[in-house]
Amino acid sequence: MKTYKIAVIAGDGIGPEVVREEIKVLQAVSELDGGFRFDFTEYPWGCEYYLKTGEMMPADGLETLKNYEAILLGAAGYPGVPDHISLRDLLLRIRHDFDEYINLRPVKLLKGANCPLKDASPEDIDMVFIRENSEGEYSGQGAWLYPDTPREVVIQDGVFSRHGCERVIRYAYELARKEGKTLTSISKGNALNYSMVFWDKIFAEVGREYPDVKTYSLLVDAASMFMVKNPKRFQVVVTSNLFGDILTDLGAAIAGGMGLAAGANLNPERKFPSMFEPIHGSAPDIAGRRIANPLAAIWSASQLLDFLGYENWGRKIIAAIEELLVKGESLTPDQGGAATTDECGDALIALLKA
Ligand code: NAD
Ligand code: IPM
Ligand code: MN
Repeated sequence: MKTYKIAVIAGDGIGPEVVREEIKVLQAVSELDGGFRFDFTEYPWGCEYYLKTGEMMPADGLETLKNYEAILLGAAGYPGVPDHISLRDLLLRIRHDFDEYINLRPVKLLKGANCPLKDASPEDIDMVFIRENSEGEYSGQGAWLYPDTPREVVIQDGVFSRHGCERVIRYAYELARKEGKTLTSISKGNALNYSMVFWDKIFAEVGREYPDVKTYSLLVDAASMFMVKNPKRFQVVVTSNLFGDILTDLGAAIAGGMGLAAGANLNPERKFPSMFEPIHGSAPDIAGRRIANPLAAIWSASQLLDFLGYENWGRKIIAAIEELLVKGESLTPDQGGAATTDECGDALIALLKA
């Protein structure tokens, strides 16, 4: 039987709470299917590990992860460890070093989910963000000059390479073509006179190969306004690393909240493992209380199944999430329910089995 070796980094805060449910769902799916199985290996990396060892993961952590088909990540970052260490040395390092240059984040309002927009219905909010995930504003390059003096200067460099922009923009065009959808590029060339002018140029250049794809270009400020006022205008969206980060939290807010938002970090060439995660963080404010919503993590499991070629199962998971939301009985408090994290996960599995 086909066995998929999956590395699990549950991480910090609610990470382990939601990943536990995600693993249960994947196990249930493999049993229901009968044609494949998962072999999960958990790594205890994260902030607690850092406080014990001084590192977020061992020096050979990436070598270890290379042996897996995919990685499930819960969340990283916790009070007590500076965020720029905990995130850069684990999550961002994996995204970068494994060349997971596509961050695929669906923003899709399911029936039954809480939407703060008056009059918005599921048909109005159905988009997918393709966020550049390997460079841009997240390059980590820069300098800190004359620290702790009155002359202190910091420089944070953005890196926009032709290679990096072209590949993510091309991926988005391909997806829009395949799905017969429009493609919106979000940038900010009016103020960022190198990086975003370059981005727009590449978007137009690559677009010449896709005359069949209807495109729009928006400035990020206007785009964030339209996401609230008229989300229907977005279908496939491509944008830079930082803009994609911010806009997908906004996307989460209009599509049911952080408890429902998932993302896949893809290395499309499959030279390295891809990584699947809820887009939320460790939620220290609710950690340990068994009230975290596991559905975002479970949605990311459906993205893993898509990636492995089991799109039928990917769709079934989304359908089960929707059914659960419509029924409204086994939801966590963020969705207006009173269920615990594991009750919500169990109810979802029951729907998959039904
Ligand atoms: P967060 O996403 O952890 O929490 C924001 C708000 O959303 C909180 O009120 C939280 O309770 C709520 N929330 C998040 N996930 C939820 C869920 N599954 N169910 C119910 N409610 C949920 O963002 P933050 O508070 O800005 O960050 C906390 C820590 O997590 C920081 O250290 C941050 O750097 C880190 N972080 C990590 C990741 C990641 O690992 N992928 C992502 C974002 C933030
Ligand atoms: C996300 C997170 C990360 C990001 C942080 C934790 C570095 O916010 O996955 O959206 O900015 O990419
Ligand atoms: Mn984010």
